[in-house]
Amino acid sequence: MIKLEDGCVVTETRTGFPDPEMLMFAAGAGIPYSPRQDRSLARVMEDEKVSRVVVWEREGPILYGGEEKFFYHPSMGKNRVSRLRRGESDPLVQALDLAPGLEVLDCTLGLGADALVISYVVGSAGRVMGTESSPLVAAIVRWGIKKYVKGPVWLQEALDRIEIHTGDHFEILRSQPSQSFDIVYFDPMFRNPIAVCSGISPLRPLANPEPLMVEAVQEARRVARRRVVLKERYQSQEFQRLGFEQVQMSKKSEIAYGIMDIEPQIQEG
Ligand SMILES: C[S@@+](CC[C@H](N)C(=O)[O-])C[C@H]1O[C@@H](n2cnc3c(N)ncnc32)[C@H](O)[C@@H]1O
Repeated sequence: MIKLEDGCVVTETRTGFPDPEMLMFAAGAGIPYSPRQDRSLARVMEDEKVSRVVVWEREGPILYGGEEKFFYHPSMGKNRVSRLRRGESDPLVQALDLAPGLEVLDCTLGLGADALVISYVVGSAGRVMGTESSPLVAAIVRWGIKKYVKGPVWLQEALDRIEIHTGDHFEILRSQPSQSFDIVYFDPMFRNPIAVCSGISPLRPLANPEPLMVEAVQEARRVARRRVVLKERYQSQEFQRLGFEQVQMSKKSEIAYGIMDIEPQIQEG
């Protein structure tokens, strides 16, 4: 995960008055602003002694310096929603047992592809809140979504409804009242990554690689009204370690979903 001390600055595409939105992005991501002053990106990095630089483009922030550029694009989620709209199924929708009106806490927002699918299915009567512990990933995805103004109305509406929080999901879960979401969903970085998984590869060097904590799953059980779901590789030991007894395989892929159903609470009085 990129931290402040790893060295990153934000700059604009061309020299000019700093865009107030860029400064808000910099504050949210916790990285300093370095005025472009007609310098090449290599020169900005050299002058600032950093290995990465975010360029504030009109379409949203783009991180340079790693092996691959990192920026927000809804394509992965959008393609899945397009398939849903054609009447095809989606393994996440099945695993979460999603339906319009449900409230979902996505504890591992990442690139927001799953959050987009969830947002589309739960609709305006539902809710999706995504938490991301890497401030840089959270800021790039938040501002990338905000600046993404293309595409059909259903896409814009689903993107607009995603609430993004920056922070560790354990702390965010602890701050939520009991039974405040229908579903709590975890998709942490796999313990044993899939080698060819191009969609996630630009995220990998920036992401929080820590394993999911047993305590976070316990908190999720308190916060969820219906179900807690974990995505992992289908033979992962994580399901057993974290107490997911019911594992739903995804037909075509190496991925599986661990499901914990929550017993309905009996109301007293
Ligand atoms: C596999 S990616 C999630 C991909 C996401 N489901 C999507 O559709 O784009 C895992 C993400 O969870 C984040 N993460 C890992 N541990 C976390 C934690 N304790 N709290 C919040 N986010 C966390 C990582 O930084 C990474 O961005």
